[in-house]
Amino acid sequence: MARVKLHDKEFKLFIPHKEIVTSIKQVAEKINRDFKERERPLFLPVLNGSFMFAAELLQEIDFLCEISFVKLASYSGTDTTGSVNKVLGLDSSIKGRDIIVVEDIVDSGNTIEKLDQLLKEAGAKSISYCTLLYKPAAYQKELEIKYVAIEIPNDFIVGYGLDYDELGRELKDIYVLD
Ligand code: IMP
Ligand code: MG
Repeated sequence: MARVKLHDKEFKLFIPHKEIVTSIKQVAEKINRDFKERERPLFLPVLNGSFMFAAELLQEIDFLCEISFVKLASYSGTDTTGSVNKVLGLDSSIKGRDIIVVEDIVDSGNTIEKLDQLLKEAGAKSISYCTLLYKPAAYQKELEIKYVAIEIPNDFIVGYGLDYDELGRELKDIYVLD
C-alpha cells in the first residue's frame, strides 16, 4: 500500500517492511555483542506500540534472556498531568537485574525518563534503552538511547505497532503524515 487514511488524516509510505527488518537485525547484533556475558538479562517491551518490534527483535537474540511485556499507566485520583507513574505487568523482579527496555519510539523522552526513575526505584542493576524509532530533533533528555534501529525526522508516523488515535498499529510498513 502506498497510502493509507486513518481517521481524518492521510499517510504515505515511508519505511517499507524489508528495510525495517534489516534495521532490526542490525540492532539485535549490537545487543547480542554487548550482553553475551550478562546473567539472564530481562527484556521489557512496552505495550502497546512495541509488540511487532519486540517479536522481530527477540527472534534475533542469541543469549538466554527473560521477556516481560509491560504497560505504563498514570494512576492518580485527581492529578491529571497524565504522566507515567506505574509499570503494569511486571511479573519478574527487577532487583539486581540487567534490564533492556524495548520501545516503539522515543520522541521527547518523557516516557523513558519516567520509566527509568521507576525501574531504578525497583532496584535494577542496569537499564539500557532499545527503540525501533528515534527522533533526535525532538529528544529533550540526557538518558542514553544505546540501541536505535531507525532515526527519523520530527514527523508523525504510524504503522508497525505505532498508532494514530489507536488506528494503524497492524500495518506492516511505516507511514508518515502527508
Ligand atoms: P515521548 O515523547 O518520548 O515520551 O513519547 C511518548 C509517546 O508518544 C510514544 O511512546 C508514542 O506512543 C507516542 N509518539 C511519539 N511520536 C509518535 C509518532 O510519530 N507516531 C505515533 N506515536 C508517537
Ligand atoms: Mg507508545
